Amino acid sequence: MKEIKIFAPATIANISCGFDVLGCCLDAIGDEMIVRKSPDKGVKITKITGATLPYETKNNVAGVAALALLDALNFEIDYGFEIEIYKNIKPGSGIGSSAASAAGSVFAINQLLGKPFSKIELVAFAREGERLACGSPIADNVAPAIFGGFTLVKSTNPLKIIELPTIDELYTTIIHPQIEIKTADSRAILPNDIPLKKAVKQWANVGALIHALHTNNASLFADSLTDYIVEPYRSKLIPDFGLVKESALKAGALGCGISGSGPSIFTFSKNKQVTENVAIEISKTYSKNKIPFHVYVSKINLEGIKIINS
Ligand code: HSE
Repeated sequence: MKEIKIFAPATIANISCGFDVLGCCLDAIGDEMIVRKSPDKGVKITKITGATLPYETKNNVAGVAALALLDALNFEIDYGFEIEIYKNIKPGSGIGSSAASAAGSVFAINQLLGKPFSKIELVAFAREGERLACGSPIADNVAPAIFGGFTLVKSTNPLKIIELPTIDELYTTIIHPQIEIKTADSRAILPNDIPLKKAVKQWANVGALIHALHTNNASLFADSLTDYIVEPYRSKLIPDFGLVKESALKAGALGCGISGSGPSIFTFSKNKQVTENVAIEISKTYSKNKIPFHVYVSKINLEGIKIINS
């Protein structure tokens, strides 16, 4: 195989109560990437469309993740790779833009090499892209991009990822206000310490959410989608977050929260009709302010990154 074209999906990190540990993978939103072998050793970013991003390999998340993979092989291969990135996920949108590029790059190179690395190893390489993007090697977006479905980052050192089941007929509606929030900035406003009482409520919700996924219990899932710790700080950065949440829940959503570090807001709902209703109602709510926005509806993507052709 000389060349591969892939779909690198958007992801929702945190899922309300699971800051830095929970995430899920989306079907309807994602980038495309073409990666090909080249006679020149190393990694070259040869094309980027849809966003203004650095071409220098060491400054590009896809490049850095690819270098981490090659480093694990001691760069002992006698060819290199060219990467083309066709962005559909806006950087700074909160739906895993950097994760899609980093995960996509290492997934594609692994395929071209004949799959020497496991999914968990690919997550470890892709985290290096996240380290470049926001200063922390977070894995809660790259894990669901690579594994698909819902994932839990059980630990980061050593890296352990747990794959979780999903709820039947689960959809997400995402509203993306066209403002940019840098992950590093929205991490910087969070407190270092949290009161024990809040922590207790939060980890009860994380446990309940995992149980809800395993037992396909939509009402327990809904009841667990509360974030006592991060949302109170970050919601201030997102205009009309409270109004969107109110209208989503009124329209039948199971829950609503900040996607990753924002500004995107996610909602979950159980069937297509309710989901369409949620999309209509939150769009109406957001149309009342002057900020342009996009709304996406997606099923949960159980597969993760998809090969378009090779
Ligand atoms: N868990 C990370 C955060 C995800 O919320 O900062 C960033 O998309």
